[in-house]
Amino acid sequence: MVIKFRKNLVMFMLLIAVAVAYVTPAFAATFPDDGTYKIQYAAYSATSTAPSMLTGYIAAPAVVVADGNSFTVTVEFTNDSYIQNFRVNNGAGYVEATSVTPATAGNYAFQFTTDDLDSYVNIQIYVDIPSSVYPPNGYQYTRDARLLFNTAGAVEA
Ligand code: HEM
Repeated sequence: MVIKFRKNLVMFMLLIAVAVAYVTPAFAATFPDDGTYKIQYAAYSATSTAPSMLTGYIAAPAVVVADGNSFTVTVEFTNDSYIQNFRVNNGAGYVEATSVTPATAGNYAFQFTTDDLDSYVNIQIYVDIPSSVYPPNGYQYTRDARLLFNTAGAVEA
């Protein structure tokens, strides 16, 4: 009788252990722990809190790789944004972001590294829309804007 009770107890505890292991992923990282995250972000005017024109061209959440105090950020924009250059102010001045292969063919994706993802990131883009799309002369402008990342809502990727 006692043995049977113990056996049931052991089975019950095993069941609990399996259930807990199932709902608690091992080594779940929380931003900014080292890891890869998807982070929603928005684009604002460089000079006010108004949303930037760039907002309409954001294609997906940013993919952020956190490594110690360094964050490697990949941002992607729709192909009708015609972004030819993407520069980021890292505090010491504007540096060219790296153009990388977009997740969706035809989009524009850029990668940059920063050590502060909780403040506005100042950016400068060169937009070149051909005259065939925006007659008669197209649209060629260097534009300033700012990105703000919702780090509190970071989701491990
Ligand atoms: C043919 C299409 C477009 C037209 C007619 C247009 C027109 C304009 C105009 C008139 C401004 C000046 C607004 C101001 O100074 O207050 C402006 C600002 C700006 N545009 Fe465009 N634009 C076009 C496409 C784009 C695209 C595709 C992008 C980015 C992907 C873009 C990004 C910006 C940015 C960042 C600014 C600075 C103000 C802000 O952040 O909204 N524009 N645009």
